[in-house]
Amino acid sequence: KKVVLAYSGGLDTSIILKWLQTTYGCEVVTFTADLGQGEELGPARDKALLLGIKPENIFMDDLREEFVRDYVFPMFRANAQYEGLYLLGTSIARPLIAKRQIEIAEQVGADAVSHGATGKGNDQVRFELGYYALKPDITIIAPWREWDLTSRTRLIEFAEQHQIPIAKDKRGEAPFSVDANLLHASSEGKVLEDPAVEVPDYVYSRTLDPEKAPDTPTVIAIDFEKGDPVAIDGVRMSPATLLARLNELGRANGIGRLDLVENRFVGMKSRGMYETPGGTILYFAHRGIESITLDRGAAHLKDELMPKYAELVYNGFWFSPEREMLQAMIDKSQEAVTGRVRLKLYKGSAWVIGRESPYSLYDQELVTFEEGAVAYDHRDAAGFIRLNALRLRTLGARKRKLGV
Ligand code: ARG
Ligand code: SIN
Repeated sequence: KKVVLAYSGGLDTSIILKWLQTTYGCEVVTFTADLGQGEELGPARDKALLLGIKPENIFMDDLREEFVRDYVFPMFRANAQYEGLYLLGTSIARPLIAKRQIEIAEQVGADAVSHGATGKGNDQVRFELGYYALKPDITIIAPWREWDLTSRTRLIEFAEQHQIPIAKDKRGEAPFSVDANLLHASSEGKVLEDPAVEVPDYVYSRTLDPEKAPDTPTVIAIDFEKGDPVAIDGVRMSPATLLARLNELGRANGIGRLDLVENRFVGMKSRGMYETPGGTILYFAHRGIESITLDRGAAHLKDELMPKYAELVYNGFWFSPEREMLQAMIDKSQEAVTGRVRLKLYKGSAWVIGRESPYSLYDQELVTFEEGAVAYDHRDAAGFIRLNALRLRTLGARKRKLGV
């Protein structure tokens, strides 16, 4: 029996690693991904070796470019926000981890995969829907749903029994749970559990407090091609480099903090704090370039379908036909979403101050209040309004008769 474990190198997944070896007696293959979480992978490798994993069973991948190019950017073409606010930073990373884990399982001939998500959250669903979609006969081991290490004390005991190194600050309860990648850092649980209580300052890691951000605004320009950002201030960059640069700009100006109570797929409400500095700038920039390049019908249809798309990503249905169908439609809409957006970044906000495109549908000649435009005859508007008012006039007459 061989199992591929999504291994972060932290205490919890190290305990899982040992638990898989001792309880299932299986050969463990570890997979650690660099998704831009901001931690070196070296220590995870050392720890895996220390816990008896053979070098050939340790997989480390830098997935930053693939993550941003094939997951984050396609999702941003949709302007996806779950429940109107959450930019889906954790949700969008799970399918990629699942995909790579299955590839490794095929490569090493493993029959099972395992992850460190709890039995109460969304992440277990996202990982496992991904596994099943890509390898229908896979065996999944979810230790948090199976083991009897149900308290911090039992976990620490187990770690000590098996010589798993425990950082000093991990002996007590960790103060809150973090998931991070290039798109966002999310914090949940413990000190954040009471939604009436403000998030303490020390929870923030990716953004300067907006109140302490510079008193002068930063102006930037983002170039788009077919819906994806390709350059900042005229400098072309790879997807991951570009998002990292936007994160720096967002951090310095305190942009992208979100304190949210959301509805988890499994049925409960949870409170989380998200920091999505670069993603927040990108969201507004993309809407800015779409505002001049998308036709009204296309734009409104896209906005109607967006909540559906966001829910699919949130619920873990990335590898589903309905997500792919929506994606095809969204990608089609982006053919002319090319051009430059200028934004101002200032004390927690990012807003568009200018947009231009070779394919702009904005017609100054048409819209001007000055004399212009032959294509628009003011007199047409009178009939347009009269026909649209026909129903309302009929109804208005009846209302008077009814006295309502
Ligand atoms: N609630 C977010 C989501 O479902 C984040 C979950 C993981 N975050 C964490 N701090 N453990 O996408
Ligand atoms: C977890 O339960 O492992 C994290 C939170 C979530 O998945 O929603």
